[in-house]
Amino acid sequence: MRMRILAKCLTLCLLFLCNYLSLGQTQGQDTNAQIERRVDNILAKMTLENKIRLIGGYDDMLVHAIPSVGFPQLRTADGPEGVRTWGPETAYAAGIALAATWNPDMARRLGESMGSDARAEGVHILLAPGVNIVRAPMDGRDFEYFGEDPFLASRIAVPFIQGVQSKGVVATVKHFAANNLEYGRSYVSSDMDERTLREIYLPAFEAAVKEAHVGSVMSALNLVNGEYAAENRHLNVDILKGEWGFDGILMSDWGAVHNGVASANAGLDLEMASGQFMSLETLLPAIESGKVSESTIDDKVRRIIRTAVRFGFLDREQLDVNIPLFNRAANKIALDSARESITLLKNEGHVLPLDRAKIKTIAVIGPNAWPAFPGGGGSSQVLPFAPVSILQGIADATDAKVLYARGLSADAAGLPLENDVYAKTVYGNALERAATNDVWGGPETVKIEAYTDKDFSGTPKILHSRRIDAAHLHTPIVVGGSIRYTASFTPIFSESHLFLISVQAEDSYKLWVNGEQVLEKKAGYDSQSTNWIELPLERDKTASIRIDYVPSQGHPQISLGVLPESQLVSEEAKRIAKQADAVIVSVGFDPSVECEGHERPFALPWGQDRLIQTISALNKRTIVTLTSGGNVDMRPWLDRVPALVHTWYPGQQGGTALAEIIFGDRSPEGHLPVTFDRSWEDSPVHNSYYAPLTKQGEIPRVTYSEGVFVGYRYYTSKNITPQFPFGFGLSYTNFSFTHLVVTPATSKVDDYSVDFDVTNIGKVSGSDVAQLYVGDPSSAVIRPEKELKGFDKVRLEPGQTKHISIKLDSRSFAYWDVIHSAWHVDPGRFTIYVGDSSENTPLKTDIVLKR
Ligand code: GLC
Repeated sequence: MRMRILAKCLTLCLLFLCNYLSLGQTQGQDTNAQIERRVDNILAKMTLENKIRLIGGYDDMLVHAIPSVGFPQLRTADGPEGVRTWGPETAYAAGIALAATWNPDMARRLGESMGSDARAEGVHILLAPGVNIVRAPMDGRDFEYFGEDPFLASRIAVPFIQGVQSKGVVATVKHFAANNLEYGRSYVSSDMDERTLREIYLPAFEAAVKEAHVGSVMSALNLVNGEYAAENRHLNVDILKGEWGFDGILMSDWGAVHNGVASANAGLDLEMASGQFMSLETLLPAIESGKVSESTIDDKVRRIIRTAVRFGFLDREQLDVNIPLFNRAANKIALDSARESITLLKNEGHVLPLDRAKIKTIAVIGPNAWPAFPGGGGSSQVLPFAPVSILQGIADATDAKVLYARGLSADAAGLPLENDVYAKTVYGNALERAATNDVWGGPETVKIEAYTDKDFSGTPKILHSRRIDAAHLHTPIVVGGSIRYTASFTPIFSESHLFLISVQAEDSYKLWVNGEQVLEKKAGYDSQSTNWIELPLERDKTASIRIDYVPSQGHPQISLGVLPESQLVSEEAKRIAKQADAVIVSVGFDPSVECEGHERPFALPWGQDRLIQTISALNKRTIVTLTSGGNVDMRPWLDRVPALVHTWYPGQQGGTALAEIIFGDRSPEGHLPVTFDRSWEDSPVHNSYYAPLTKQGEIPRVTYSEGVFVGYRYYTSKNITPQFPFGFGLSYTNFSFTHLVVTPATSKVDDYSVDFDVTNIGKVSGSDVAQLYVGDPSSAVIRPEKELKGFDKVRLEPGQTKHISIKLDSRSFAYWDVIHSAWHVDPGRFTIYVGDSSENTPLKTDIVLKR
């Protein structure tokens, strides 16, 4: 027995030694030639079966170990809000918030911290960052990404990736490419011309590969110009691996492979979450018949091994138990990421900061005040140890009396994250409230008719009539069918009433009140969040209600609520607002609504507009805080409130950071990484965001008809002022820009140095983001008025001036020339703009680039 153990130990030692000798030493010590030799050695020892095994993941997040060649199992984990291993863990400010810092150094520190977290959890491959460009605020994943501008996204992505990878962890830039919507994300094609693809949707990926040497790229779920991203040779073979020279792993998004042979031949190296299509069953016969060559498989295996060798996975354990999980240093970085990202959008009459000496009572009101909402929903969501809510942040930062009321009748306590439970809770409560307040003229009944098809044809089966009570509507099981609800409602108040309706995201319905269709939701296209409409009703005048509901699955769930307007905002909220010296109204979304796989509405969730209107009418010092991944419809209330602070999804220290800003311990620093449109109709993508309906079997296609004119590129070119421009963000101090000088930096015709001064002309210290835009009025093709080509975040004491020097190179002046398939600079006049938003560029000069 002893001998056997000894023999086993010896074999293990020998195996390890062999690996050590043949595979070289630790990360960083191997030269490229040594790495390639190690890779060749391992590859030579692998059977074809083992090679195919390696290129398909397993158990949702893992890459297979191949013990016979000493290749370890690799563990992946999601980001970018933290390292998601289903908690508890550190939650940092979300991607969009990181972009709002406009601080590459912050991105590097955050990346380093996430790299350490990954090591503390034994994660080899972090599935972050996400660099898809934000086109429309309804995309439920905007909060994960770095905004609308490819230059800003690149400057944040590169140091983030370098930070992660400096800790011996592979970063994954995703989703390659043009994954700019969440509805139908697995079957809609993003269609655009080559110039738009190159100038807007690819540069952040290009920078990740060329500058940050990212170890892994994740292909997108969607189609691009009619081909699934995983099968798109133009993207994967021509551009990523050809032009950009990417030598790492191209993995699929989870479930994004549809054809093993096509994906294998189109450059995909690793199918996740399992080798369902790039499998032995598919690939062995394909290799035999010559449809896929063995060298194609070898190239994939080589890339996976190369990346593992490069990052040291064959030479050390990835799990480092000496790195704390409950990490004070990481918590500080989470705090800094929130501090630098929170963006002050309005501050009329300097209502902020609040003066601690004068404020004795503060009312904190609204659904987003508590609990904390560190991030949006979906695969990026992490479970932090102890997130700080807005309510707690404010209460911890002051000796004043802090009064709290949720203000709206919905359940806040431990808001469940499962979407269906959430819907139930909201509606359960909405109806409960209605019932307990006796607003139903009742007794009311609802007739439930189930149809066997989706068209409400044939003879319905009348299930039963029942009294409407404090529960969601009874939902019979109707696989493949539809349900009609008919009810009546007799109000006891003459006023506007809110009709609230909620279903699951893939369901559809139409709601009629008094014979008129007032709401409609199409399957899959709209958000899963509660839809609502306000309608005037008269006391004792019975209103008829009809809902035609088509559930997407066998277990339908629908909820309806009717609330009189006067019952919407709670009495407690009104009373504390009246007596407080200042009010914080915290509104916005939560992870069940702003979530991967779904669209969210442009309007705030139900009741929140009215909450702001009601509270701001009672207290002039009403400060609105907004939790969301981007813009919302602010028209119903923006003019009525003096201050608006956008918190994005600020991570676990959001409440602390917000309170520092509210009380003036720090000046706000965030600047918008996206344009905030006044209305959805104003947006340049308004007519091209939703794919036109298609016939069965046809691919729904979104044509990016705005071309390169996305976000501020559209607004500045059309001379239209949005609600808040790209790059905008207020501080408690003011800055001036002076002394612009543009000089050739080298003898090359398109190398320039742009120099100018920024001065803090206010009374407190603060920071600003100096932004440099380039315009090309003499170009042969139509180009945007201004494009961001440089920026620098400066922190200045009152009266202090800093000289800034930004370099421009040929790419700063170039556009994608479709005829020659290359970046091209048209000689002639260029305009250089400097300022602190796409709208505010007080410095401007022209230069002429000679041939
Ligand atoms: C998803 C996401 C992707 C994520 C992956 C693993 O489908 O689109 O971003 O990394 O699943 O959770």
